[in-house]
Amino acid sequence: MSDKPDIPHADWAFPTGIRFGLGRVRELPELCRELGVAKPLLVTDSGIAALPMTAAILNSCQADGLGIALFSDVQPNPVERNVIDGVSAYQAGGHDGVIALGGGSSLDVGKAVALMAVQKYPLRELTIASFQDFSEIQSKLVTHGLPPVITVPTTSGTGSELGRASAIIDEQSQTKKGLFHPVMMPQICLADPELTLSLPPAVTAAVGFDALSHSLEAYCCAFPHPFADGVALQGMALVNGALVAAYRDGSDLGARARMMMASLAGGTAFQKGVGAVHALSHPLSSRHGIHHGLANAVLMPYVLAFNMPVIEAKLAALARYLDLAAPSGQAIIDWLVDLRAECDIPHRLAGLGIAETDIDTLAPLAAADITAVENPVAVDEDDMAALYRAALAGDLSH
Ligand SMILES: [Fe+2]
Repeated sequence: MSDKPDIPHADWAFPTGIRFGLGRVRELPELCRELGVAKPLLVTDSGIAALPMTAAILNSCQADGLGIALFSDVQPNPVERNVIDGVSAYQAGGHDGVIALGGGSSLDVGKAVALMAVQKYPLRELTIASFQDFSEIQSKLVTHGLPPVITVPTTSGTGSELGRASAIIDEQSQTKKGLFHPVMMPQICLADPELTLSLPPAVTAAVGFDALSHSLEAYCCAFPHPFADGVALQGMALVNGALVAAYRDGSDLGARARMMMASLAGGTAFQKGVGAVHALSHPLSSRHGIHHGLANAVLMPYVLAFNMPVIEAKLAALARYLDLAAPSGQAIIDWLVDLRAECDIPHRLAGLGIAETDIDTLAPLAAADITAVENPVAVDEDDMAALYRAALAGDLSH
């Protein structure tokens, strides 16, 4: 007998059934019935609430006899108050299910409302700043009897339409914390690319880079999850063909559909984990209000350069899969930099209004972020500061 082979010991999860296709949003009343939901709470933000798509959803559900009501007090980068108010609306209305409609913020709040509707402890005692905290709160979490959640994404990128977590900002500490448990996975994701047609180009690009960052970070993450790697490769191939097309022509339904698939692939792949791009990005959102996807887009090449000694072979394989000119890690960095430029995204953090003086505050937050431990290379506060500095200077030499 040889030594025990290196066989992973891991919990592998894949999320949520997906109903994909044009016009499928019209199936919502039927889906509610399928899940036994008679009184759904529609959770979204005020911008989406004002769009005709929301009126159409409310009308079709009402016409079908469903007791649907609207909760639209969700802000970008949602805060605890949004979830607490959503739970109050859910309970006051006697609802029995949640439809989460919108971008990442609305989807995160919708999923959080469903989880918090059955909890005994307040939200503040159940959010976690790192996965190490999860074991502490696990005994407090009620994980049965959650109302069903249907997610209906209106952007392509967040992955929250499939994921098992919500990012919520703790206003006291101004940090992004997580609600996390596998029971938070939605029952059904209704993915209708037509709902993304009105997204402006800059948002299309920013959320598209979020989708790309999920697949790329999951693919590079050291945690073993071989199926996620395959999904991540496909997600990146979809972005490669579709992101610039969707950015240049928002009415290109084929590109919109491929970006929605890329988002779903990213949301599936990041069950494996993400890494330092997300760890560095979260404080930029919670402290400076920068769009999550935009921050990721700027940061990605610098983190790849930093991780290169460990991920070079994987990136070379990715370059071959994407059919880039050279099968190398550098080819992936060049590809990212070109893709960013084609989407008019700045190369440096300075382009997002960040200055050298901000790093002292940002670096400890990034090092303590829930996703930092998922990076393929161990990162401490000094590394995070160096990465912010590299991104400020546009220095890809690491
Ligand atoms: Fe993300």
